[in-house]
Amino acid sequence: MTIALIPGSFDPFHNGHLEVVERAADIFDEIVVAVLRNAQKSEAMFDLDERRDMIAESVAHIGRVRIVSMTTLLVNVAKEVNATCIVKGLRVVTDFESELQMAQMNRSLSGIETLFLPASSSRSFIASRLLREVARYGGDVSHFVPPAVERRLKEKLGQES
Ligand code: PNS
Repeated sequence: MTIALIPGSFDPFHNGHLEVVERAADIFDEIVVAVLRNAQKSEAMFDLDERRDMIAESVAHIGRVRIVSMTTLLVNVAKEVNATCIVKGLRVVTDFESELQMAQMNRSLSGIETLFLPASSSRSFIASRLLREVARYGGDVSHFVPPAVERRLKEKLGQES
């Protein structure tokens, strides 16, 4: 059985992330989405459990997807869930430098390989950081996030209609 581990900070999960999960589900038997802390990113809008719950609602239609939220190294999660490989989406060329370093570090630590899926051009500009900013100023993010995330963003920002 092949298991893809899709890690990220997912603050919040968006349609670009969803596309990676859906495409990976066409290739692998099971998907584990791991919500983790990124030490390079300071202020989080949602805590790990909130992010896990939003993802669970957003991927419910796919099946064969498990979501975990942890504060540990990604390679520890990979071992725990018996991951075949790590899968990450690549949007733009500037993503590549840090993703390459992380892939090389993870392979050095544990031997696990990372597979990159190129984002669709229609989604390559979607980034959690931009969505937080647009949503904070009351902009419409409904085209970029699953309904469960849009709802939680409005709740978090006190914008319930
Ligand atoms: O969505 P992001 O922020 O690009 O995801 C980065 C993430 C969370 C996958 C990365 O920071 C990570 O793996 N964090 C867990 C701790 C860890 O293993 N750090 C070493 C990475 S080589």
